[in-house]
Amino acid sequence: MFGFTYFAPTKVVFGKDTEKQAGALVRACGGSRVLVHYGGSSALKSGLIGRVVKSLDEAGIFHVELGGVVPNPHLGKVREGIELAKQNDIDFLLAVGGGSVIDSAKAIAYALADPDHDVWELFQGKRSAVGCFPVASILTIAAAGSEMSNSCVITNELTGEKRAYNDDLARPRFAVMNPDLTKTLPDYQTESGCADIMMHTMERYFTQGGNMELTDEIAEAVLRTVMKYAKILHADPQNYEARAEVMWASSLAHNDLTGCGNDGGDFATHMLEHEMGGMFDVTHGAGLAAIWPSWARYVYKECMPRFVRYAIKVMGVKDEGQGDEQIALEGIAKMEEFYRSIGMPTNMRELGITPTEEQILEMARSCREACGGKQGSAKVLYEEDMANIYRMAL
Ligand code: NZQ
Ligand code: ZN
Repeated sequence: MFGFTYFAPTKVVFGKDTEKQAGALVRACGGSRVLVHYGGSSALKSGLIGRVVKSLDEAGIFHVELGGVVPNPHLGKVREGIELAKQNDIDFLLAVGGGSVIDSAKAIAYALADPDHDVWELFQGKRSAVGCFPVASILTIAAAGSEMSNSCVITNELTGEKRAYNDDLARPRFAVMNPDLTKTLPDYQTESGCADIMMHTMERYFTQGGNMELTDEIAEAVLRTVMKYAKILHADPQNYEARAEVMWASSLAHNDLTGCGNDGGDFATHMLEHEMGGMFDVTHGAGLAAIWPSWARYVYKECMPRFVRYAIKVMGVKDEGQGDEQIALEGIAKMEEFYRSIGMPTNMRELGITPTEEQILEMARSCREACGGKQGSAKVLYEEDMANIYRMAL
């Protein structure tokens, strides 16, 4: 096992009607002038923004609102938020939404702490953050895990680059999680969220060693639980217990709990998907489902013990003497079956995109650039490997 630092400072407030505590929670964190950030129309339509604003008013907290964050959130909206926050002397960012809104809030928060530099430079890898204003969220979709993560993913809509910046400075102060709030999600978003949650766990699972038994067992429990409840939600989207299980899994899958003791994880599937998101604006979790089977078949021979364990302990493959390679391949095939069972794609055609050879080469080039040359633990991937995996996933 490798040594590790586990830092999960986010206060989680979980359960029905918890959004009513927003004002008191912001106050307890020292916030007095809040930018309430949200997405398209879902949080307005459901009345959630109204309830949050009421709670802030009751706590005597000044607030301004900025909506319009799109999935794969845009740098332009971040810049709009920075200006609005400066004009209003904002000292706290409250994201009401999913990963896109939370990440947009995190980017604004970085910029406010360092007004003399362009925030995009963080995402270009040109410098590190010197600070970050406090961010918190009221979560409306179980998926990205940004509510507890140190990650922030922004798309520069002018260049098509989707880039991540990771720093513990941005870990949110609190996360309000009311599973009822996710009942209005379109099925596709619920299912894409489940695919993303699983992938955050799998990125930390398929490594070249160092994993602790306890970490592996936690990871396997997260994966089995998400699969079980994703299927229930596919048939019964209003099921509160299932919503709750999946929501808690979204946070545990990406707050680094399932990475303790490993070598830092693989994350190649995520890097490959970010290029698909930047070029084709696909839904993140669905994009991951579309690329993972090809990634898995490309790398499994170099990470056989993990693929065999995964097949047996997560996908329920029986060891009947068929040999490791066959077990690993059966595990991958069963994962595809699961994706299909919840309406997720298993390749790019099913995802609805058909990149040309030129686009594949551009995604591979850009992915290599974003990774700093190479990516992966299960198997280290270079630009040529990235292009090969995109081709396999067509
Ligand atoms: O904009 P609205 O109208 O709110 O609609 C959203 C959006 O269309 C809708 N939605 C959210 N909650 C809803 C709802 N619709 C009805 N009822 C509700 N309760 O869902 C759509 C997707 O929202 P989004 O915030 O984009 O979803 P998600 O949480 O999956 O976030 C995806 C983004 O997070 C990034 C992804 O790359 C992508 O940009 N990620 C961020 C990570 C992080 N910061 O740690 C890690 C992830 O790996 C991921 O890369
Ligand atoms: Zn993800």
